[in-house]
Amino acid sequence: MTALLFDWASLLVRWAHVMFGIMWIGTSFYFIWLDASLRKRKDDPDIAGESWQVHGGGFYLAEKYVVAPEKLPAELHWFKYEAYFTWITGFLLLAIIYYWGAETFLIGSASQDMSAEMAVGVSLVSLAVGWIVYDLVCRSPLGNNTTTLAVCVFLMIVVASYFFTHIFSGRAAFLHVGVFIGTIMTANVFFIIIPNQKETVAALLAGKIPDAQFGIQAKQRSLHNNYLTLPVVFMMISNHYPITYGHPSSWLIAVGVVVAGGLLRHFINQHDANELDWKGKVALPASALAVVALIVVSASRLGTGYSEPVEFAEARQIMNKHCISCHSATPTQEGFEDAPAGVMFDTPRDVRKYAAQINAQVVLTDTMPLGNLTEMTKEERDKLGAWVAQGAEIN
Ligand code: HEC
Repeated sequence: MTALLFDWASLLVRWAHVMFGIMWIGTSFYFIWLDASLRKRKDDPDIAGESWQVHGGGFYLAEKYVVAPEKLPAELHWFKYEAYFTWITGFLLLAIIYYWGAETFLIGSASQDMSAEMAVGVSLVSLAVGWIVYDLVCRSPLGNNTTTLAVCVFLMIVVASYFFTHIFSGRAAFLHVGVFIGTIMTANVFFIIIPNQKETVAALLAGKIPDAQFGIQAKQRSLHNNYLTLPVVFMMISNHYPITYGHPSSWLIAVGVVVAGGLLRHFINQHDANELDWKGKVALPASALAVVALIVVSASRLGTGYSEPVEFAEARQIMNKHCISCHSATPTQEGFEDAPAGVMFDTPRDVRKYAAQINAQVVLTDTMPLGNLTEMTKEERDKLGAWVAQGAEIN
């Protein structure tokens, strides 16, 4: 029963998280596009530009004010709940999967003696520290130069990736890199962008000229959020791909993703604004090159180093020892009521059916057995890999 409720909780919250994420990223991409699509109008100096659009059979005219209208309309929509709810549902999902199931999912082989409470504590503190350090760096003199600041923020993410991949399980580590960046992005909206917009509006209402500093700071943080969106989305979906997080140097892959995503964003930004310079043009192939580098690094682990023939009987014996306690119609492992992910190895046909996944989870990476609870050896992994490579025969 608990397993059933757990699955439902995780599914429903994930559903909500993806929907809020679509709304946040969707509105954010839309406004970037809108800004880029504005065309000057000669008749009204208060209007920075206008954009004509057609969608769903209707014609729309959006106008952007240079500063703000003289009188604020009674109804003014603030885009902020998309960001807040994306973070809240994401945090809930983190808690349901990785905090509730800390022993299984959060703690990795590198930190097996850590208690569940300790691991959850490390996760929470690291997220808070990440935001505090980021915010201090942005406010420091380093924040005055966009490039210097970008390098600092990037280095912070490198350190965070190294830290997470050396303290949590591979999957949890990748997710934490995403949550770490996502938390900074949401905090940017909550603590900086929205309050600064409110200050600007208040000044306008009071008939004063708003302090330009508010706008400059909000713009800087918006720009960071813009560049960080694509890498975060990658981190969140990479959870299904042990080829990324299962690599022994997975922190390098995480860093590569940030580079590739940032470069791609740079190209898209310049392209949308019709301002492609040589750097923007180079960014696209550079991003593709970074992805190729990622594939090469992830493949550097291929090859099992075992070439003797491996009979099914031997492969099955290894699986019975290391997998069947969880992956069975009737698991014996404490806390498991059903076969996890519906994957079971009770019959030879079941085993054969999952040969490719077994290879991905056990041979190319050491994602399974979870946390290497059963202490599977390298030789056993290689033998299983050889059995798959030799055709995964079951007789
Ligand atoms: C301690 C329990 C446990 C053991 C032992 C275990 N697994 Fe798993 N396995 C899980 C859980 C939990 C999941 C679901 C993970 C998820 O939600 O993505 C899973 C998922 C899988 C998947 C599906 C992954 C996917 O995303 O499609 C495969 C394949 C797999 N395990 C293979 C193995 C093999 C092979 C072994 C033995 C070498 C093994 N597992 C040992 C708990 C276990």
